[in-house]
Amino acid sequence: MAENTVDRKYGGGERKPLGPAPTWEQVLQRNSIERLKREKPLHTLLSDELDELSTRHYLEIPEEDIVRLKWYGLYHDKPKVGTFMLRIKIPAGLLPPESLRTIGEISNTYGEGYAELSTRQNVQLHFITLPKLPEILDKLTAGGLTTAGGCGDTTRNITGCPLEGVLATEAFDCTPVVEEAATFFFGNPEYFDLPRKQKFTISTCPHQCDMPEINCVSLIGVIHEGREGFAMKIGGGLSTVPRMARDLGVFVTREEAIEVMRALLDEWKSDTRYRLSRVKARMKFMVDDYGPEAIREKVEARLGRKLESLPAPASIGFTDHMGVHEQKQRGFFHIGVPVPVGIVNGRQLVEVADLVQEFDGDVRLTKQQNFVITGVPEARLDEVKERLGGFGFDIDGHPLHATAIACTGEPHCNFSVTETKTKMQELLEHLEQKWGDRLGNFKLNLDGCPHACSLHWVGDIGLMGTTARETVDGTRQAYDLFLRGGVGPEQAVGRPLVRRVPTSRVPQALDGLIGAWLDERMDETFRDFAIRKTDEELKELATGQTGTISKEGVPA
Ligand code: HEM
Ligand code: SF4
Repeated sequence: MAENTVDRKYGGGERKPLGPAPTWEQVLQRNSIERLKREKPLHTLLSDELDELSTRHYLEIPEEDIVRLKWYGLYHDKPKVGTFMLRIKIPAGLLPPESLRTIGEISNTYGEGYAELSTRQNVQLHFITLPKLPEILDKLTAGGLTTAGGCGDTTRNITGCPLEGVLATEAFDCTPVVEEAATFFFGNPEYFDLPRKQKFTISTCPHQCDMPEINCVSLIGVIHEGREGFAMKIGGGLSTVPRMARDLGVFVTREEAIEVMRALLDEWKSDTRYRLSRVKARMKFMVDDYGPEAIREKVEARLGRKLESLPAPASIGFTDHMGVHEQKQRGFFHIGVPVPVGIVNGRQLVEVADLVQEFDGDVRLTKQQNFVITGVPEARLDEVKERLGGFGFDIDGHPLHATAIACTGEPHCNFSVTETKTKMQELLEHLEQKWGDRLGNFKLNLDGCPHACSLHWVGDIGLMGTTARETVDGTRQAYDLFLRGGVGPEQAVGRPLVRRVPTSRVPQALDGLIGAWLDERMDETFRDFAIRKTDEELKELATGQTGTISKEGVPA
């Protein structure tokens, strides 16, 4: 009985029969954001309203217009005093040097020299003020960049493998499909009023480093019967109600890809069931309700033809593409550059852009908040590595510098209840010192609230900021620890097995778990170790406490 409850919470269990779809009148009555989208057009905000909006003091701008700015990648910084986060979309993370230089210069001029590389291959700036926005957007456009749909109820950045076109083992180069999809969907008025945010990923990386399992719609590159195309998964996503994507069971050729992506969005955006409540609006809930088979039928009905069948392939093993490797173009190499918690400065971005331009290479942002430099001629490898070191990037640092991720959180995000990037920096220092080389590619994912922007559900250990019942060492900041989650061949939603660990005791809790795994393991992954142990044993390792696990400590 209890098992079944847990199962339903994480997307399993029996499917409930669907009730009638609400009328638009009911939707508009219940959902204020749907009303706003209906009353004030979004796709003309930049052309018709921005010049006037940017002349006003932010306090004189109605909150609803601040909300509408999200559709152009703006989110109020914390505290809300008129400075904004600006999210620049980089499809599949691919950044030619000119675009990277543009971002670096904008960061230096308007963003206090700060920038962060995100878990969806975007770059985020902070401290942006509205009076400067028109000139910033002009500069971004000139640099071949956009923020359209950076946030808001529309198609967010399209992610992919950062090594498209250069990875020696890729099925085929799908960069043109990513570019075509980005050109078609970003800012397209037809897809600017979706029920909520929408996440595509397109890649041909056999490692599935783009994590198709946690995207709304994923195109997984395959060669099928001699043709280049994609298997598809739908309905993945994390946030507060995590789901692993489900197999749509189809093969679409690269020529059909956009048509099928559109049909899926058309189906979702026209079903008013996903307009009534923001909490239930994501595509993953439509997949829960109908199941992938029925959605396939709906898509086929829209297209007016049957799709070919093909089960989605599994990942051959997750990788973050760090290290130095030869490309499919013989004699050229890609170099992975770890960026601890994704924080860079404008000077570094400009320096890297200048360096990469010398050999006509590119910079590719990864989902682990790092970047990869491509197109490095063999003869220049040592020199390039040395120069990157001079810019402040430690190429040969501890693997944790690359694998650990932490969300925007403190001090910029209004949702965060704990430190995030700064906490992770402290943990990295501690773990590196304590475990050294014994701890390799360990995935530590830390978020400052349940929204899961840094994927705490799928880390080897996920940390989610929360509040302790009482003050410990002068603060109530605390973290829930999520275990048994994973990506790639180990894909699974983790469970919050250890609750409310006071922030000062987190290093100790990690040491307890990691130490036991390293001491006991017989070639098992951390996830296998966490599955082998009982909930009770894991809690004891993390907290040193024995006794029955409290009700709080199991997912309810
Ligand atoms: C309703 C509020 C929010 C929810 C439910 C939410 C949820 C999520 C989720 C689930 C992801 C993971 C995406 C993936 O990798 O597949 C994500 C990404 C991200 N979120 Fe949030 N988030 C929210 C608000 C915010 C805010 C306020 C900020 C920052 C101020 C933020 C910053 C980020 C960043 C930097 C990423 C990386 C992806 C990107 O660049 O698009 N999020 N968010
Ligand atoms: S996880 Fe929460 S605290 Fe962190 S960036 Fe997302 S919304 Fe902000």
